[in-house]
Amino acid sequence: MSLGQCKRSESEIVDFWEEQLKNPFPQNDTQESQYRIAELEKQCQRQTMAMATSLVSLIDLRDRYTGRHSQRVAKYVRGIGMQMCLPDDQIETIVFAASLHDIGKIGVPDHILLKPGFLSDDEEFAWIRKHSEWGWIVVRSVDGFQEAAQLILHHHERFDGAGYPSRLRGNEIPLGSRMIAVADSYDALTTNRPYRTARTRTEALNELSRCSNTQFDPQVLNAFVAYLERTQVFENGMTFSA
Ligand SMILES: [Fe+2]
Repeated sequence: MSLGQCKRSESEIVDFWEEQLKNPFPQNDTQESQYRIAELEKQCQRQTMAMATSLVSLIDLRDRYTGRHSQRVAKYVRGIGMQMCLPDDQIETIVFAASLHDIGKIGVPDHILLKPGFLSDDEEFAWIRKHSEWGWIVVRSVDGFQEAAQLILHHHERFDGAGYPSRLRGNEIPLGSRMIAVADSYDALTTNRPYRTARTRTEALNELSRCSNTQFDPQVLNAFVAYLERTQVFENGMTFSA
């Protein structure tokens, strides 16, 4: 008889669970099946994560800058998510999307993607702009990745509605996409590019705050600044204690 099919005293319930704890391994056909299903689910999760890791490596092979950039963006969005006290599973989905946010750049021709200077014309920009939709198409086809795919699709939307591809505005943009947008821009500003040197942390944050409410969600930006301040204090603490 299964749990919940009859009234049982507290002592019977305690006895039941004590017995379960004494025998955690399958004792009959039903338990055997449940045990196998749980094992298969774990195996499936491991394979999914292995495939995700391979995809990230693929980006790194295609374009070294983009690969490492994606890893840093993933680290920053984790910090924002924790600062905003988001649930763990939501943070993991956003971190995963951040790791793959530029995967669609695989489809951009070399002479545009790896161009050492600024993009020069509308056609080059049009190629680059396709990457968020291509990334969405690639990732959405994997079972269980549809939510992450949506975050990838909208990571170049702007808070004022002037972004792409859907011109979403404000809270219409998925929260994870708004987080990736802030982290993405901060990392782009604080790393060396062929056409300019990296900005300092303060210069980059000044630039981001200038675009608060237009390009970026002010709440997400505040959380990012708070996270950076917290980690800076921590890093300084480590330096002093060393
Ligand atoms: Fe992007």
